[in-house]
Amino acid sequence: MLSKIKEIILEVENFISEDITKVEEFRIKILGKKGLVTQFFSDFRNVPNEEKKEVGLLINELKNKALEKVNSLKDSLGNVSQELKSEDLTLPSSPIEIGSRHPLSVVHNNIVDIFSRLGFTISEGPEIEDDWHVFSALNFPEEHPARDMQDTFFIEKNPDILLRTHTSSVQVRTMEKQTPPIRTISPGRVFRNEAISARAHCIFHQIEGLYIDENVSFADLKQTLMYFAKELFGEETEIRLRPSYFPFTEPSAEMDISCKLCGGKGCNVCKYTGWVEILGCGMVDPNVLKQNNIDPEKYTGFAFGMGVERISMLKYGIKDLRLFFENDLRFLKQFKPAL
Ligand code: DAH
Repeated sequence: MLSKIKEIILEVENFISEDITKVEEFRIKILGKKGLVTQFFSDFRNVPNEEKKEVGLLINELKNKALEKVNSLKDSLGNVSQELKSEDLTLPSSPIEIGSRHPLSVVHNNIVDIFSRLGFTISEGPEIEDDWHVFSALNFPEEHPARDMQDTFFIEKNPDILLRTHTSSVQVRTMEKQTPPIRTISPGRVFRNEAISARAHCIFHQIEGLYIDENVSFADLKQTLMYFAKELFGEETEIRLRPSYFPFTEPSAEMDISCKLCGGKGCNVCKYTGWVEILGCGMVDPNVLKQNNIDPEKYTGFAFGMGVERISMLKYGIKDLRLFFENDLRFLKQFKPAL
């Protein structure tokens, strides 16, 4: 009998149901007039004297636990059904606000998507960098102005440590880790010691591109960038490349696209030229390849770098760069939902 009672106590402890009729059936089985507790009490007479105390205590424990369980289950189920009764279930539910993607994320995703289709992988590097990866390995001469305190955030205690001023540093990290063919883009945050204005910020985002293989030519660079510009800004977009200078590319160029806002006719965004600059690019300087143990006799490559804020401003006609960082919902809500 002892073990039978213990078994039922276990059953009570484990019983759970959300169905009020099942709970009631359970109550009748254990606590009903002809239930188990009543039965155990009537069998009590036959229990030998020396066991009476223990058995009696156990039957009482079973009774109390069963009562407690049934009451608490009935309470919780009863409350739910009362709540339901007091509410008009035909009313429409309260609206769920759907968030939207930040415009920088929308444009970042678009750009990553376009280059993924061309077989570019994604690589990342640290935001806190050293002089080698940001400047030296990229052929910046000692006296280059970018190495100046006025342009770069350095760590006071150790001038070798700085916040990266461009994502070109990830090019170097990629060349250290991989051997050609390399085809990768590196999106990320960059930092410059600039006064914040409608056109400049001390924190912004860049996407860097790097392609190294045998026989990579300037024509490959141009074709890749033309495809990119048309995919991002529309089929009718035209590009032009102007000679420029970067320490890590030779030759170097800046790329303009035909102004989206005026269709090339001239407006204040393109300063009445019909063209707006969107990125810097060029053929990787043989010195940079050499510095990174890649044979410049065997391999050539191209690189490019663009600012995500600048491209977003052109794509959406946003006039003030600070809007990206202020998190004003009236601004953010204008962009595509996150779905
Ligand atoms: N790192 C340059 C900047 O921050 C952008 C850039 C220009 C990157 C030319 C490149 C490149 O890879 O080839 O202004």
